[in-house]
Amino acid sequence: MLAVALVALASGAQEQRGYVPAPENLKARQEFADSKLGIFIHWGIYSMFAQGEWYMTNANIDNKEYAKAASAFYPAGFDAKEWVSAIKAAGARYICFTSRHHDGFSMWDTEESAYNIVDATPFGRDVIKELADECHRQGIKLHLYYSHIDWTRDDYPAGWTGRGTGKDPSKVDWPAYYAFMNSQLTELLTRYGEVGAIWFDGWWDHSHDAVPFDWQLEEQYALIHRLQPACLVGNNHHQTPVEGEDIQIFERDLPGENTAGMSGQEVSRLPLETCQTMNGMWGYKIIDQNYKSAETLIRYLVSTAGKGANLLLNIGPQPNGELPATALERLKEMGEWTSRYGETIYGTTAGDIAVQEWGVTTRKGNRLFVHIFDHMEKELHLPLQGKVKRAMVYDTKQPLKTMRTKEGITLLFDEAPSGIDYIVELEMGR
Ligand code: GLC
Repeated sequence: MLAVALVALASGAQEQRGYVPAPENLKARQEFADSKLGIFIHWGIYSMFAQGEWYMTNANIDNKEYAKAASAFYPAGFDAKEWVSAIKAAGARYICFTSRHHDGFSMWDTEESAYNIVDATPFGRDVIKELADECHRQGIKLHLYYSHIDWTRDDYPAGWTGRGTGKDPSKVDWPAYYAFMNSQLTELLTRYGEVGAIWFDGWWDHSHDAVPFDWQLEEQYALIHRLQPACLVGNNHHQTPVEGEDIQIFERDLPGENTAGMSGQEVSRLPLETCQTMNGMWGYKIIDQNYKSAETLIRYLVSTAGKGANLLLNIGPQPNGELPATALERLKEMGEWTSRYGETIYGTTAGDIAVQEWGVTTRKGNRLFVHIFDHMEKELHLPLQGKVKRAMVYDTKQPLKTMRTKEGITLLFDEAPSGIDYIVELEMGR
C-alpha cells in the first residue's frame, strides 16, 4: 500500500515539474552520449565572403547589400554523399548542420521566407533535403543548428549584435518572429525524417538587457518534443541547462574548464557536448589556415571522452561546396585512429581517474582505459583505489607489470610510453 502511494506521489511530482522526456528521448540521449564524435558544419552564403560567419555584423554590412550574395550562390562542388562519406569514415556518429545562421539565410526550401537556398539562389537545391537523405541512407544522425538571432529580419529585436545591418527598429515584432521560428522548426521536423537534435544558438544576444529577455523557450522546446519526441534539444547559451533541454553544450572548452571565457557554468547530469573548431573559425575564412594537427585533434577527442562528453568538431566548407582539403585530411587521420582505437571511447563514460597531466581515462563496464599522451618515464602511478585484476597494453594485448601501492597502483613499462595516445587497458574487479 505504502509503496503504491509513494510511486503515485513520485510520478505526480514529476508531472508538476513540467517536462518529462519520453522513453524514446531517453534512449536517444544514451545513444548520443555513447557516440562521442560529431562533425559540425557551418555553411551558408556567408561562406562566399570567406571572412567567417560573423562578417555581416562585424563589418556592419547592410542586409540588403549582403543579400545580393545569394543571387550568386552556386556551390557546384556540393555533394552530400561525399561529405557524409568522409565524415562517417572519420568515425563521427552525427553531423550538425547550420540550417539558418545569424545572417538569417535559410539553407532549405522554407515556405516562411523567400530568403532561402531554393528561392534566392541560382543553385536552387534544398541542401538540407540532400543531406538528410544521405545521412539516413548512410545511417548517421543529422542534427540541425538553428539561430535564435536574425541580423536581416526587422521583426527580430536586436540585442548587442546586428546593430549595424540596416534593420528598421520600428518594425520589431517579437510575436511575429517567434511564430516564424516555430513554423520553420515545424518544417524542419516534419519534412526531413528523423532529426537527431535541434541545436540553438544566440540566446546570449540579449544577455546584457536591463530587463531579462523572454525567449519563450519552454513552449518552443515543447513544440519540438511534440513533433519528434526523440529529438534532443540543446542550447548554446553558455548557462546551466533549463527545463526542456536534453543535452548540455559547451563552446570551445571541455566541461568544467573555461579557457575561452564562455564557460564556467555548472556541469549538469545531462549528456555533454563540447564544440570546437578544426582551425580557428566556424564559417569558411580564407586566411584561416591555422588547422590543429591530427595529434591535437585526436587528443582533444579522447580528452573530451575522458570528461564523459562528446566532441562536435567543426568544418567550414568552401563557397563552392567542397570541404577544404586540410579538413578532409584531418578527417582521414581521425578515421585511422577511431577505426583502431574507437572502442576505447565509444560507449564509454568518464574514467575513474580525474584528468591528469599525462592524460585521461575512460570506462566501459569493468574495463578502464588509461590514455597516456605525455609521460617520459617507465613508471606511471595511478591514483586508483579499486581492485585491478589484469593490466595490458591495448595495442599488443601484452600483459603489463603493475605494483600495488598505498595510494593506488603503478604501471611498470619496459620503455616510456610514446605516440599520440598510448592506451593501457585495466580489468577492474568488484
Ligand atoms: C558562437 C557563434 C556562432 C557559432 C557558434 C558555434 O555562438 O556566435 O557563430 O555558430 O558559436 O558554437
